[in-house]
Amino acid sequence: PARTLALTPPMGFNDWNSFGCDVSEELIKQTADYFVSSGMRDAGYRYVNIDDCWMARHRDADGRLTPDPDKFPSGIAGTADYVHSHGLKLGLYEDAGTRTCAGYPGSLGHEQLDAQTFAAWGVDYLKYDNCNNAGHKTPAQYIERYTTMADALAATGRPIVYSICEWGVHEPWTWAGNIGHLWRTTHDIKDIWSSLKSIIRRNAALSSHAGPGAWNDPDMLEIGNGGMTDAEYRTQFSLWAEMAAPLLVGTDLRRASPSTMTIYLNQDVIDVDQDPLGKQGRLVSTDHDRLVFAKPLSNGDVAVALFNGSDTTATISTSAAQAGLGAARNGYLLRDLWSRATILTTGDITATVAPHATVMYRISSTRFGT
Ligand code: GLA
Repeated sequence: PARTLALTPPMGFNDWNSFGCDVSEELIKQTADYFVSSGMRDAGYRYVNIDDCWMARHRDADGRLTPDPDKFPSGIAGTADYVHSHGLKLGLYEDAGTRTCAGYPGSLGHEQLDAQTFAAWGVDYLKYDNCNNAGHKTPAQYIERYTTMADALAATGRPIVYSICEWGVHEPWTWAGNIGHLWRTTHDIKDIWSSLKSIIRRNAALSSHAGPGAWNDPDMLEIGNGGMTDAEYRTQFSLWAEMAAPLLVGTDLRRASPSTMTIYLNQDVIDVDQDPLGKQGRLVSTDHDRLVFAKPLSNGDVAVALFNGSDTTATISTSAAQAGLGAARNGYLLRDLWSRATILTTGDITATVAPHATVMYRISSTRFGT
């Protein structure tokens, strides 16, 4: 794929986690409005993405996909125009098989026409799933299907971020980086702690596969959906940033509480996610459910996340050397990206971390003194 796209992890919105099949033009437009009025666009959120169920049940007489006219009275093109006029980008969902996961027409055998249709509508991002793949389950088969759409998108000449879903495929991190810009690494996230925790474990092990234009995708954000505590939601935001994951808001922003917005708008954490070096934080240590991650940043700082996945408060520690910081004669400055406290240390990095919470530090070598 074009290595000029998604040089940092995509940021935006996707309706699936909070609306399922209940997507509409009104929702997409109101989300675009809110991106602008709330400061989210300025914070880096750009893609407003439509998931499954946007289509009519059948292709038109010319074989083209058509949007559901009740859900999208202005069509995808009209919706895209609106989103673009707000300085934002539009995403859409399709499937490599005969039908999407929710049963709408798939792109199999129509890849060129569908890619041209998406480009003509002004689509900037395609999430391409692989449900209903008609028994094509070998790697050669699903890789070919994902490649066919990649080539069809490239042939349109329109820059389109290509997001690979995990249904019907195996270990996409081993092959998808040559084809798409991001690939799902887990089953669908749910708005419950056990789901979040298992996704963290899986995605944490895959840091070596990520880099600019090629990201592990541990699925969309659940922050604000009500099934987890704010500490758990801060953990999701912290670790998605630490793991250079896409930040796709999965809640109804029109109803989001101030505490939800404080999480989505934490610019210090967003900056870790969007750091141009494009490294996924690696696991520095694993002690049962207590994980330490370190993510090198472009200015020489390191973002360290101390994640307490256990059910009791824990002291979690590492050192500047383990986190990959060079020797610093005057010690290190730790900035807590949630409390905003700063701490000076000669090398110990430690915190008391509540159950299911994450302490996130941005660490720099101090530059004053001699
Ligand atoms: C799959 C994907 C989800 C969502 C649904 C839509 O389950 O993993 O993210 O796109 O399909 O049907």
